[in-house]
Amino acid sequence: MKKNIAILCSGGDVSGMNPALKRFVEYALEKKLTPYFIYDGYEGLIDNQIKEASYCDVAGIINRGGTKIGSARSERFMHKEYRQRAKENLDALGIDSLIVLGGDGSFRGLHTFYKEHKIKFCGIPSTIDNDIQGTDYCLGVDTALNIIKISVDAIRDTASSFKRAFIVETMGRECGYLALITHLTSGSELCLIPEIEYNLDTYEAKFKEEIKNGRRYFIVIVSEGISQKSSEIASWFEEKIGIESRVSVLGHLQRGGNPTVKDRLMAFKFVTLAIDALLERSTESIVCYDAFGFHLKTLKSVVEKPHKLNEELLSLLK
Ligand code: F6P
Repeated sequence: MKKNIAILCSGGDVSGMNPALKRFVEYALEKKLTPYFIYDGYEGLIDNQIKEASYCDVAGIINRGGTKIGSARSERFMHKEYRQRAKENLDALGIDSLIVLGGDGSFRGLHTFYKEHKIKFCGIPSTIDNDIQGTDYCLGVDTALNIIKISVDAIRDTASSFKRAFIVETMGRECGYLALITHLTSGSELCLIPEIEYNLDTYEAKFKEEIKNGRRYFIVIVSEGISQKSSEIASWFEEKIGIESRVSVLGHLQRGGNPTVKDRLMAFKFVTLAIDALLERSTESIVCYDAFGFHLKTLKSVVEKPHKLNEELLSLLK
C-alpha cells in the first residue's frame, strides 16, 4: 500500500521553507510516498486544510521567501480536543507520518500529539532566532543574516554622512545570535545581547575619546531581547556621548527575502534526512546539525534544556 506523508510549517516563517517544500514533494514522490501539504500550521491540521501535493504545487517556489503553505501559531493545538480532531483528519487520509518545520515551541506541541496519538514525526529546526538546543543551525538563519548585513551596510552609508549613532535592532527573542554574528561581521562599534550583562556608562570615556580622534559615527547592534529599549540606548548616545542618534528596527524584513544558497542546500538536506528517518521507522526525532554534520536527536533531548548560545561565539564578543 502506498504510504502517505504530510508536511506543515509552524511558528515564524523563514526563508528556506519553500525550498524545503519543493524537496519534500520531489523526494517523497521519488520514494513512492504520497505527499500532502497541511496549510497554515497546526491550525490547518485542526481545520482539515490538508491536500495532496504535486510537482505543480512546488514549481517556481525555490527562490521565494515565506512559505507557500502558510504558517501559524496555534493556541488551539495546545488543547486535547483539538489534537483529537487533528488526528481524525490525518486518519481520514491515511497519513501516519508528519514533518514539521518550526521552532521548539512547535516541537513541544508535536511531542504531546505523538504521546497521545502515535503519529510519527520528524522536526526540522526552522527559526531565524537560531535558538534551538541541540542544533547549531536552524533553517532561515543565513538568509536573515544576509538581509541584516545588507541593511547595516546601507545604514553605515547614511550614518557616516551625517555624524550619527545608529542603533540597529535585530530579532531573536531571548537569543542574541543574530545580533552577535552581525556585530562580528559588520564592523559595528558595540553589540548588546541578552546573554551578556552590560553597563553603557563603561563605554563613555572610550567613545568620547574616539570622537576626539575623528570618529564620525557609531553603529550599535542591539538584540530585541535586551532589558532596555533601543530608544533608551539612542538617548544615552545623545545625552552622554553628545552625538545625534537614530533607531532602526529591522523587524520582519529579517524573515523574508530570496533564500540564500546555504538555506536552499540546508533545506534540501534537512528534508532528505527527515523523510529517510521516517522511512527507517524513526518515530519522534529532530534533524540537528553541528560541526560533525547532521544527526537525528530525540525531541526530549532538544526541548528539555533551555538554549544556550555557543560559548566560543560569546567569547568573541567578550
Ligand atoms: O521567532 C521568530 C521571530 O521572528 C522572533 O525573532 C520575533 O520576536 C517573533 O518571531 C515575531 O513574531 P511575530 O511575527 O508574531 O510578530
